Amino acid sequence: MRLLIISQVLLLSLVVSGRSTESSCMNMNTPSRPAGAVEDQLFSEKEEAVDSDHKQTDDARAFYSQPLFVFSVVGVLIIAFVTVFFQSYRELEDKVAERTRELDRTQRELEETNRRLRASNEELEAFAYVASHDLREPMRKISAFGQLLQDSLKNKLNEDEQENFAFMISGAIRMQQMIDDLLKYSRLTTRANPAERTDLNVVIKDLGDFELAVQLEETGGTVRVPEPLQSVHADRSQVHQLLQNLIGNALKYHRKGVRPEIVVTSTPQPDRMIRVEVRDNGIGIDEKDLDRIFGMFQRLHSRAECGGTGIGLAVCKKIVMRHGGAISVESAPDQGAIFWFTLPAASEDR
Ligand SMILES: Nc1ncnc2c1ncn2[C@@H]1O[C@H](COP(=O)(O)OP(=O)(O)OP(=O)(O)O)[C@@H](O)[C@H]1O
Ligand SMILES: [Mg+2]
Repeated sequence: MRLLIISQVLLLSLVVSGRSTESSCMNMNTPSRPAGAVEDQLFSEKEEAVDSDHKQTDDARAFYSQPLFVFSVVGVLIIAFVTVFFQSYRELEDKVAERTRELDRTQRELEETNRRLRASNEELEAFAYVASHDLREPMRKISAFGQLLQDSLKNKLNEDEQENFAFMISGAIRMQQMIDDLLKYSRLTTRANPAERTDLNVVIKDLGDFELAVQLEETGGTVRVPEPLQSVHADRSQVHQLLQNLIGNALKYHRKGVRPEIVVTSTPQPDRMIRVEVRDNGIGIDEKDLDRIFGMFQRLHSRAECGGTGIGLAVCKKIVMRHGGAISVESAPDQGAIFWFTLPAASEDR
């Protein structure tokens, strides 16, 4: 369409310019006067014809130089350009509309995938909760009655049988611990409290006075907070659990013969988050294991070396993620470890 209009405009311009050229050529064709008297009449006839041609040329010149003609040409050009402009504008509009429809479609698909993912996550969490909650009681019975049976059969079983029995009981106890941990893990969402202003200094003091008091005493470890820590906006009991697991690990994985020294610091981040670091002088972690340890039931040490099920850091990760933060670790063997996490900052008006 656009090409058609442009070609029409060009054609019109060519016609106009062609007619002007034609008129100028006519001037050049004016005959020169012949010498013979016989030809006088012919000549005068020819001259008349030439005069009439000149008159026509002058008429054409006058016509082309008329303002009406000029306005019509300019008008046609303007109409042509306006048509081309609107044509292009409409094409562009169509393209934008098509893109918008595509985007809407993608957005709807994304929302649907998100909704399905959320539903499947909720289903999985509900399953983990029900399974761990319901498995807890039978498992407790197996280990409790198994221990009673082990005592009553003590003198009736030979050494091998006693050993097998002991394996069975310790397996049941371990399973019970894992189920308890799984329940604790799933309760992070099912029994969460609303976020509130949480003073990390108070949390660390409470941990030193209660939950970690025995471990600190046994290891001779210290927890130092060089500068007052910034407050965060989070579920207080989960922040308590988070720091308990991290400081507990820092005390547990200390180097033999070296007193655990733990330093906790906090730094505000530009995105209104607070970065908290828990630094220790313990055994450290190999670089290849740094990501793995945040997985469920992932451990780098045997139970004989250190007790535990390997859920502590998975719990830490879930707590931090629930609050929109991040968690990671920097470490090297025998160089200690720096576990860090981010949580939303508590604003002044909270
Ligand atoms: N501060 C640390 N220094 C060195 N290694 C660590 C440290 N913290 C954790 N780890 C390693 O990461 C593994 C996973 O830790 P996590 O806290 O999840 O489990 P756990 O301490 O073994 O058991 P749980 O915490 O469930 O009682 C540990 O087994 C240990 O090998
Ligand atoms: Mg742990």
